[in-house]
Amino acid sequence: MRHISLPDFGTAAAWRTAARSCLSEGLSPADIIWGSEQTERGLFYDQPTTAAAPVNMTVPRSFVSLAETVCWHRDTDRFARLYQFLWRLKDAPHLIADRGDEGLAHLRGMEKSVHRCQHKMKAFVRFREIGNRDDARRSFAAWFEPTHHTVEPTADFFARRFADMDWRIVTPEKTAIFQDGSLSFAPGEPKPSLPDDASEALWLTYFRSIFNPARLKVHAMTSEMPKKYWKNLPEAATIPDLIANAPARARAMADAAPTLPPVRAENARQQLAAHMSAWNGPKEALPAAIHDCTRCPLHKTATQAVPGVGPLDVPLMIVGEQPGDQEDLAGLPFVGPAGQLFDKVAQSAGLIREDAFVTNAVKHFKFTPRGKRRLHQRPNSGEIEHCRWWLDAERALVKPKLILALGATAAEALTGSGANILRRRGSVEQLADGTPVLLSVHPSFLLRVPDACEREKQMVLFEHDLRRAVEMIAALTTRPGSQDMMAG
Ligand code: URA
Repeated sequence: MRHISLPDFGTAAAWRTAARSCLSEGLSPADIIWGSEQTERGLFYDQPTTAAAPVNMTVPRSFVSLAETVCWHRDTDRFARLYQFLWRLKDAPHLIADRGDEGLAHLRGMEKSVHRCQHKMKAFVRFREIGNRDDARRSFAAWFEPTHHTVEPTADFFARRFADMDWRIVTPEKTAIFQDGSLSFAPGEPKPSLPDDASEALWLTYFRSIFNPARLKVHAMTSEMPKKYWKNLPEAATIPDLIANAPARARAMADAAPTLPPVRAENARQQLAAHMSAWNGPKEALPAAIHDCTRCPLHKTATQAVPGVGPLDVPLMIVGEQPGDQEDLAGLPFVGPAGQLFDKVAQSAGLIREDAFVTNAVKHFKFTPRGKRRLHQRPNSGEIEHCRWWLDAERALVKPKLILALGATAAEALTGSGANILRRRGSVEQLADGTPVLLSVHPSFLLRVPDACEREKQMVLFEHDLRRAVEMIAALTTRPGSQDMMAG
């Protein structure tokens, strides 16, 4: 039986040397008792072992690094476990990658635990200044209580990080000393009494300020910063208070946070932005562009879009509501009953339709199917708004001196309001660009007036409106800018 007691310092390297030598002697795990100075000070004995064939093997690199870490684990079995696995590796090298192997799984668990301990040490060691601030190299000391024997394998990290100062990390079993750029180790010491650090108040303020109460997860926090470390962390004293006040602070943060606009408002904003932009294609392309329009769902049921018709260089633009059943089939505005009535009254009023650009506020026919018939439906404000883009494009091309708006829909599309059209009819309203709009009723309204006497009266008023349009055009084209003609 061979008894091997490994030193407290340089343990990993000593294990490697001892394991290599045991292998070369062909010692099986059962022939060795592994120990360390810490557990068996002074005990070192060697008994004759059964001679076996020396072993020559190439040890996988990943085992070397595994052993390098596991040697710093607190478990007293660690050296034996490592050698046992190494012994098995000589006949089955593939075991180093066998996740199902229990021996390897145990060693990997130990490796993970040591790595975690090293990580905590890097995060939670807190130095206090112990020397004179004016010295060429400032001196610091820290007290730490690691779970495993991690002072030695982790000290390099601190040596690189704090290379320009002298420091010592004191732990119960080992002390790492960095002096004048060289690292050494000494036995552990009881907890020293360290002075308060001048920068500690600053650190506490920083810690409080980076603490986000809205993201507090106590479980995750205590797993990341286990309570056993708290006693040596100055900032830990603030944690209970921060946790207790987190809900109230998170609520206050939420109340103070800017709110996002509701989805509907955002949609409306996007639609508005789309409407703000103007159609800017060549004028010949406008009718085709209107034909292809899919800006609102009306295009799905209508036969076709009906763009405005007429010369582009005329002073009068006539705007109706939307194509009717016949206009939808013909692709031309005002060819059905309402258009025929309009033509009749226009003729009496001396208005020549061919001298005007005739269009509609909405370019697609909106209807409800009733058997074989398609019953007209008034377009809603959204549809009017979507289609105003095309009306604006037509206006931009024609640049009329006067617009005759027939009915509430045309009034809404042009002036923004279709309300009280019977009261407003015959009056002139001005658009933002100064274009006058003469308001009147829609010819289909005349067709629907049930009382013959009243219908006659309305026909007279309508003819009066059209005559007024003719007079205004005459005045505007001979005396451009005349305000008198535009008064309501
Ligand atoms: N009504 C309108 O407003 N426009 C037409 O084109 C036909 C009927």
